[in-house]
Amino acid sequence: MSNLSRDTNKLELHRSLTPSHIDQLVALFQTEWWTKGRIKADVEKLVQSSGPLFAFIDPHNDELVAFARAMTDGVYKAMIFDIIVKETWRGTGLGGVLMNTVLNDPALVDIKHRELYCLDDMVPFYEKWGFATAAAGLNFMRKSEG
Ligand SMILES: CC(C)(COP(=O)(O)OP(=O)(O)OC[C@H]1O[C@@H](n2cnc3c(N)ncnc32)[C@H](O)[C@@H]1OP(=O)(O)O)[C@@H](O)C(=O)NCCC(=O)NCCS
Repeated sequence: MSNLSRDTNKLELHRSLTPSHIDQLVALFQTEWWTKGRIKADVEKLVQSSGPLFAFIDPHNDELVAFARAMTDGVYKAMIFDIIVKETWRGTGLGGVLMNTVLNDPALVDIKHRELYCLDDMVPFYEKWGFATAAAGLNFMRKSEG
């Protein structure tokens, strides 16, 4: 499929997911290193208890082609997670549309610190939207269960 037939203007933004979209999200998660292995039961919980979520759907075939989600306290902090464009739609501008949509969402636009974490090779991508490494000496820490 050429990029011309992948017109981001034709996509719909959905803020909640149908059962079919959840199945497609589980499949999309299997394609990325940090989301691989997520199972449907857990993804259903994620969708129910997550903050704002953003799914771009191709209405032509009801295909979920991009996803992101966020969690926020409404004032100081918002964390943005799971920013993924389906491989067949990459390079079409959809990643940019997704980032602009998330950052301009009323629930997120005025939050003091909007944060995400990423590998080194994604830094140039996020810098395009004004993200910068938070501060020297600041560590992202994690306590894992299971
Ligand atoms: C990262 C991702 C969302 C980008 O989506 P995309 O639809 O290909 O991006 P776009 O076509 O909208 O590109 C927007 C701009 O970002 C640039 N860009 C895209 N991927 C980039 C990357 N990995 N590093 C730096 N710049 C990148 C494009 O060149 C374009 O720049 P331009 O506006 O100056 O032309 C997509 O590649 C993806 O889903 N990757 C796998 C999942 C992932 O790694 N997500 C991020 C986890 S932290």
